[in-house]
Amino acid sequence: MRVLLRLAAVVIGATLVNAQNSTTGNTTDCANYDMDISNSNIDAVLSCIKNNPDPPIPYYLYILRSYQGALAVPSIVTASQIDYEDSAGLLNLTSLDLPDLEQIVATGFFIYGAAKLSELNAPKLRTIRGSLTLNLVGGPAINLSFPSLEVVESGIYLNGTIDRYELRFLQTDTAKRFSIELPALNSTSAVQIFSTGKLDCNAFAASVVNATPAYNAEDGIGSNTSVICNSKKGNVTTFRPSIVASSRGSKMVSNLLLWSVVVGCLSLVA
Ligand SMILES: *[C@@H]1O[C@H](CO)[C@@H](O)[C@H](O)[C@H]1NC(C)=O
Ligand SMILES: *[C@@H]1O[C@H](CO)[C@@H](O)[C@H](O)[C@H]1NC(C)=O
Ligand SMILES: *[C@@H]1O[C@H](CO)[C@@H](O)[C@H](O)[C@H]1NC(C)=O
Ligand SMILES: *[C@@H]1O[C@H](CO)[C@@H](O)[C@H](O)[C@H]1NC(C)=O
Ligand SMILES: *[C@@H]1O[C@H](CO)[C@@H](O)[C@H](O)[C@H]1NC(C)=O
Ligand SMILES: *[C@@H]1O[C@H](CO)[C@@H](O)[C@H](O)[C@H]1NC(C)=O
Ligand SMILES: *[C@@H]1O[C@H](CO)[C@@H](O)[C@H](O)[C@H]1NC(C)=O
Ligand SMILES: *[C@@H]1O[C@H](CO)[C@@H](O)[C@H](O)[C@H]1NC(C)=O
Repeated sequence: MRVLLRLAAVVIGATLVNAQNSTTGNTTDCANYDMDISNSNIDAVLSCIKNNPDPPIPYYLYILRSYQGALAVPSIVTASQIDYEDSAGLLNLTSLDLPDLEQIVATGFFIYGAAKLSELNAPKLRTIRGSLTLNLVGGPAINLSFPSLEVVESGIYLNGTIDRYELRFLQTDTAKRFSIELPALNSTSAVQIFSTGKLDCNAFAASVVNATPAYNAEDGIGSNTSVICNSKKGNVTTFRPSIVASSRGSKMVSNLLLWSVVVGCLSLVA
């Protein structure tokens, strides 16, 4: 009995040491919230996350520049940050799957210089406390669909060959290969898209503008450039008008709901 227990302890100890070495080198272990991800430590990282998916400080996932090929990180529901960057734009990650990710609670989601990325899936991602910053310039066709994404506090910044914005119900064109979809977005400070493709910026801007803060032209409160979309098909800079600005124009209807909320509050106060 005693021998068996000792054996078990040794096995557990050995497992921990392995995870330690292979996770982030010599100084960290599964309890560390910084997770560097490389092709050689990926199994250890995934087992750390699987065994402890919800640590007190959510993981910061750093995909190392040298990463090659596809990457799937299941089990992680809350992350502090996801980061993969290279100024030279020579990154070799080809796909990134985050099937369980629901929220990013610190600085945001950054992919910079990933010119081989053709798939990015985060179907349950609902909230990003920081920004969503993706630079995929020079990359292949990609569908950027964030079907559950509601809130991106510090803004959405995308550069790449994004060819079109697809309205879900407007799927007649068979040539659709590049797209961006943010069907659930209802709150973000700014949206800026710089596309070298033929994205329909008018349609795209119209679809996201109501998620941005209102701009009051009279007192200058807010920003009048909260939505920027540049592509071969159009350059659009726009904003959501505030109640004051809209009361003089036809945009009033779109703000009636907001207006009635304000009136409701006023009458409560009175
Ligand atoms: C882990 O580190 C220890 C000592 O630093 C070393 O002896 C061992 O070979 C390493 N294991 C792995 C899997 O790298
Ligand atoms: C960990 O490894 C790095 C180099 O990879 C070295 O500079 C550092 O001193 C090592 N730290 C410890 C505690 O061994
Ligand atoms: C990506 O792959 C290419 C070709 O294999 C290589 O030259 C380049 O250094 C790789 N990029 C990185 C960041 O490792
Ligand atoms: C996208 O391109 C614009 C214009 O070149 C630049 O100002 C912006 O910083 C770029 N954003 C990203 C996320 O690369
Ligand atoms: C993008 O999504 C559309 C519709 O879901 C699909 O037909 C198309 O093949 C996808 N393109 C890529 C590059 O994945
Ligand atoms: C966004 O919409 C979702 C679902 O409709 C709702 O639960 C959430 O509170 C909304 N967020 C904001 C900031 O309005
Ligand atoms: C934003 O406001 C500035 C200063 O009030 C004005 O010069 C500029 O033309 C406005 N831009 C847009 C897109 O409305
Ligand atoms: C949008 O502006 C860019 C330069 O900022 C220009 O290259 C492009 O042709 C413009 N697109 C349209 C449709 O005017």
